Amino acid sequence: MKGLILAGGSGTRLRPLTHTGPKPLRPRANTPNILYCLEDIRDAGVTVIGIILGNNMPKKVRELLGDGSDFGVKITYIVQGEPRGIAHAVGCAREFMGDEPFVVYLGDNILTGGIKFMVDEFLVSDDEAMVALCQVSNPQQFGIAELDDDGHIISLVEKPKEPRSDLAMIGIYLLRSSVFPVIDRLKPSWRNELEITDAIDTLRQEVGNVTAKQVRGWWKDTGKPSDILAANRLVLDDMKPDVLGTIEDGARIEGRVSIGKGTIVRDGAVICGPAIVGRDCDIGPTYIGPYTSIGNGCRLAGGELGSSIIMDGCHIECDQNIVDSLIGGNTTILSENDRKPRGIRLVVGENCSVGL
Ligand code: TTP
Repeated sequence: MKGLILAGGSGTRLRPLTHTGPKPLRPRANTPNILYCLEDIRDAGVTVIGIILGNNMPKKVRELLGDGSDFGVKITYIVQGEPRGIAHAVGCAREFMGDEPFVVYLGDNILTGGIKFMVDEFLVSDDEAMVALCQVSNPQQFGIAELDDDGHIISLVEKPKEPRSDLAMIGIYLLRSSVFPVIDRLKPSWRNELEITDAIDTLRQEVGNVTAKQVRGWWKDTGKPSDILAANRLVLDDMKPDVLGTIEDGARIEGRVSIGKGTIVRDGAVICGPAIVGRDCDIGPTYIGPYTSIGNGCRLAGGELGSSIIMDGCHIECDQNIVDSLIGGNTTILSENDRKPRGIRLVVGENCSVGL
């Protein structure tokens, strides 16, 4: 069996963070999302993995993953370029897959419980395809599957107005080479993409034997900023604490906290877990509240941070309370209280969202 991780796409809903790299590289608890996907595939016993690259800084994906040897897998890069849909991305991997069955994992998805149970079952079955499902409270926004008593899919509808179940198709699909001729015949949808829901539904109607498995634990598709913050909270909830940096006298660490090598937490700093601070940070008298991830090489002094992701190389020195925020790498936020005229000074790029 082989694996396929999709790391193309345009990530429009996550701009401006996707102006500096593809969505699967955004971190949860300081680890790029794509590494969680890679681990799930590897832990299911699949070590030959194709990575789909788009045209939004694909070099950054190559730099992170290399040939895969650091992660115990063998990686082949497959260029999709322009995002023409998930089914199109899968179609690009035809030659790489040959006649092997394969597991597709969308690089912006995150789940607990792994995928080994699905992979094992698929490999001994004669199923043509198996999809992962998860119960959702808003089925109108997903591809929704209706199942018979044996777990076979009897209907698959993209974003139904009147959903027949609350089981959403999530970004994990087990497929065989039989899907490729189906993808060849797909027509683009209203959003001009080749849809994986259409491919799997056509396979179901023409060949049959398309089954589904409900994932264990939680699942998150991290398309929007609020999803990324929620996924970060979920990962931090499961994190093992590990303090490698230096905690000065007068600093307070409470609850489950991880602090990277070379980081100094200075007198007056308070960190309340679950929270993670990366390597080589300088944490001054700042309050870092629960569900916050601070990347590597950050400098913080003053103010309060809570339920937020601060990416690598940020410098924050202010007396504000920053909550539910996603701050991209190398951002500077400074108080200028004594500068006239007084007010908020912003240098904000395109597609940003600022809550005052
Ligand atoms: P989506 O979230 O459906 O698409 P997107 O990444 O373009 O984001 P947005 O809708 O905000 O513009 O993609 C899910 C995953 O699949 C994501 O990790 C990117 C990947 N993908 C590809 O690799 N190729 C594609 O053609 C598409 C559409 C997505």
